[in-house]
Amino acid sequence: MSHTDDTQATRRDFIYYATAGAGAVVTGAAVWPLINQMNPSADVLAQASIPVDVSGVAPGTQITVLWQGKPVFIRLRSEEEIAAADDVDVSSLPDPDARNDNLEAGTPATTENRVIGENGEWLVMMGVCTHLGCVPLDNAGDFGGWFCPCHGSHYDLAGRIRRGPAPENLPVPVATILDESTIQLG
Ligand code: FES
Repeated sequence: MSHTDDTQATRRDFIYYATAGAGAVVTGAAVWPLINQMNPSADVLAQASIPVDVSGVAPGTQITVLWQGKPVFIRLRSEEEIAAADDVDVSSLPDPDARNDNLEAGTPATTENRVIGENGEWLVMMGVCTHLGCVPLDNAGDFGGWFCPCHGSHYDLAGRIRRGPAPENLPVPVATILDESTIQLG
């Protein structure tokens, strides 16, 4: 990226390295301590924002990156997922708040209020269950989105809690599309 200097590039390399490891071990909530041990150093944690290369993300899949010490899911929604997630009555949701740091508190939890991209194809959210903090599994659960095996919380394809003890939707952090291959967190 032209706006980064050598120091930042080095930090990014480290983050990508950690990301690859995280992707390999995020197979269940029990591995969360492993991820914690792989957290970036304090100076990296302090970074307010990081660019993430999303050029390799195929439709219907996600990558997990570590940002400020927490996993962030970045999913490129497929056409089918986009259609399925839109078919929901917001008033019926356990948490009707979009929980999106890019929007005002209290914004309705429609799918469009939780995604970014020209067609709402990108879903970026914290990969931390809002119940007690486990890492939910993707492509799992009764709503085709994420499932937290710790106590059985089901999230839908927009990351909204639909069933189980989790009180809130998975939070959407500040995220911006910089170009077709880069999303900035923070
Ligand atoms: S921590 Fe996810 S359901 Fe309890």
